[in-house]
Amino acid sequence: MSFKKLPITSHIGLMYPRQTILLTTYPVNIIPLAWTLILSRNPPIVGISVSPSRFSHNLIKDQGEFTINVPTREILKKVMYCGQTSGKKVNKFKETGLTPLDGINVKCPRIKECISHIECRLIDSKVYGDHTLFIGKVVTCLGNEDFLKNNRIDIKKVEIPYHLTGRNFTFNQKKIYYV
Ligand SMILES: Cc1cc2nc3c(=O)[nH]c(=O)nc-3n(C[C@H](O)[C@H](O)[C@H](O)COP(=O)(O)O)c2cc1C
Repeated sequence: MSFKKLPITSHIGLMYPRQTILLTTYPVNIIPLAWTLILSRNPPIVGISVSPSRFSHNLIKDQGEFTINVPTREILKKVMYCGQTSGKKVNKFKETGLTPLDGINVKCPRIKECISHIECRLIDSKVYGDHTLFIGKVVTCLGNEDFLKNNRIDIKKVEIPYHLTGRNFTFNQKKIYYV
């Protein structure tokens, strides 16, 4: 067995695939993100890493709110569209046909076609290299009951996209291995 020494910026490819989410903001926009993080169980706290070059970056910073929406395989083309266009130029809800639902405790819309919605209030942010880590306190969690089991996503019922590189994705197997 031999290990190849790689450039240090190979870290991304060596930590993929990663679950892809659709983040919604206010003013209204949609940005797919693969760099997300669960930071604390209780109180519930999550992190997202967003490049300052994204239109969404300052929307999150200025409004202090964001919503994580979990997409499925069915809407993957729309996810990709949102990741290749900027909310500075297009209305992504209008262009994709995704349906905005009112937020519960934040102004950011929820995406009806996604299976879960996690509303967050910004509690901290810090620039790390070429991205900003936004830390959000979870204020609301909703899940589509058709795809839930014990308050978790039932992966036997749904395929969730995991980003590889560029336009490449993979999905969870609809199987659970008990170890
Ligand atoms: C699957 C996928 C995952 C992405 N993950 C991130 C991410 O974690 N952080 C980030 O800053 N951009 C990420 N991007 C890029 C943004 O989604 C993309 O630049 C988007 O067009 C920005 O939209 P906006 O300008 O409307 O904010 C990702 C794109 C795709 C397709």
